[in-house]
Amino acid sequence: MSTPTPAAPPRPDRPGCPGRPERPDLVVVANRLPVRQVPGDGGSTWERSPGGLVSALESVVRTSSMSWVGWSGAADDPEHPALTSFEQDGIRLHPVPVTDDERQGSYDGFSNGTLWPLFHDAIFVPQFHEHWWEAYRSVNRRFAERTARVAPHGAAVWIHDYQLMLVPRLLRELRPDLRIGFFLHIPFPAQELYLRLPWRAALTDGLLGADVVGFQTTVGADNFRLVTRRLLGARVEGRDVVRAGRRTHVGTYPVGIDADRVRRIASDPATVARAAAIRAELGSPRTVLLGVDRLDYTKGIEVRLRAYRGLLEAGRVDPATTVFVQIAQPSRDEAPGYAETRASVEQMAGSINGDFSALGGAAVKYLHQGQDLAELVALYRAADVMVVTPFRDGMNLVAKEYVAAQVDLDGVLILSEFAGAAHQMRQAVLVNPFDVRGLEDAIDEAVNGDRRQHRRRMASLVRGVHRDDAASWAEHFLGDLRPTPTAASA
Ligand code: G6P
Repeated sequence: MSTPTPAAPPRPDRPGCPGRPERPDLVVVANRLPVRQVPGDGGSTWERSPGGLVSALESVVRTSSMSWVGWSGAADDPEHPALTSFEQDGIRLHPVPVTDDERQGSYDGFSNGTLWPLFHDAIFVPQFHEHWWEAYRSVNRRFAERTARVAPHGAAVWIHDYQLMLVPRLLRELRPDLRIGFFLHIPFPAQELYLRLPWRAALTDGLLGADVVGFQTTVGADNFRLVTRRLLGARVEGRDVVRAGRRTHVGTYPVGIDADRVRRIASDPATVARAAAIRAELGSPRTVLLGVDRLDYTKGIEVRLRAYRGLLEAGRVDPATTVFVQIAQPSRDEAPGYAETRASVEQMAGSINGDFSALGGAAVKYLHQGQDLAELVALYRAADVMVVTPFRDGMNLVAKEYVAAQVDLDGVLILSEFAGAAHQMRQAVLVNPFDVRGLEDAIDEAVNGDRRQHRRRMASLVRGVHRDDAASWAEHFLGDLRPTPTAASA
């Protein structure tokens, strides 16, 4: 944890002005800032928040100067001290204020009650409300305006995710000198789903304000090209989309993790000791199964518990020697569907424990708590089998972290076919998360199958997560955003 640098000296908040000898040459725009406020003795301080994007961009911070535009996560009022730009860990941070009403309409509402479920194949029914859309538009406009004020002349601006899909177009109108990239971390759905959206043309046009639009999978990129043609009459030329004389490169950039960092933590003697302590605390079972997710209806937590229950009922798994650890990180409590999902997961964990636990130990250890990376990596090392069963997922970085932590190649990864990660991690035990019987068999196979074969498969997965890591993801995207004369790739 560290204290923020005191309010920055008055610094020209306008483009292209030579305020510092070395100007940031990359501006990241994401819904959240990579820090969170924590209360302390002498007032609040900031600390780096755990999470995928900031660690994915760590390598970029090391090689180029960077600034970041985002929301602090708190309900802001215009007098909030968080609204002053400040520097943390080498990144210049520019908070965007979001009021409580705007959070409800734009974040809980349009982002997480409309787009999130729609883009995850409508697993939960998406809701369409005009006032949510209006809040989303005005928050997107504020992000674009803030970015337009702070981006140096000619900078590369990298906008992230579904909360900010209108920003590329709005920003281009304000600052035509910028190179603008957009990356969608979640799936882009099939046409039939996307076309339900009453504001589909405006949202598509929003993305076409970018020079490069990136997706996790080729399927997502293909879906997007099709809707640009259908909704806006754009021309598709190879991978690019051309509209009104402007070309947008549409590419596939599967996001990776900082695999070296995870391996370093996993090899640390303190982690090895913690992993052993976790197993002891669990009652030294023969088998530890693990799930780690944000508590979200897309993650398929219930289905994996149902499969585990099926194995216990059939006597294929012995509750005296097996424990299922489910970490469910609290998430989006006020968005539609999340409270219901929590209730049903907790009901299921409770009923399995009621039916199968002994006094000395639980069949399911359920924690509705966030864990820091060191503790997660210790859990990854302690677990024999990692069960990742989302019904739909843009990528799923937990699967990659688990693999990077398998320095002894001992673990087995069960992975949903419908996670973006499955496109790269073909050596995992791939499952259809809608098929409970198939999932039971996969868990059985992971626990009792041929160890040598599982180790071989894990070795290949480990090579993959190190090859396709966060740094190579960022380099690939930014290479296309700041093209050399030999230009963009797929
Ligand atoms: C997903 C999204 C991210 C989001 C994260 C956490 O990974 O793709 O954009 O930041 O979930 O969700 P939250 O709503 O807490 O930001």
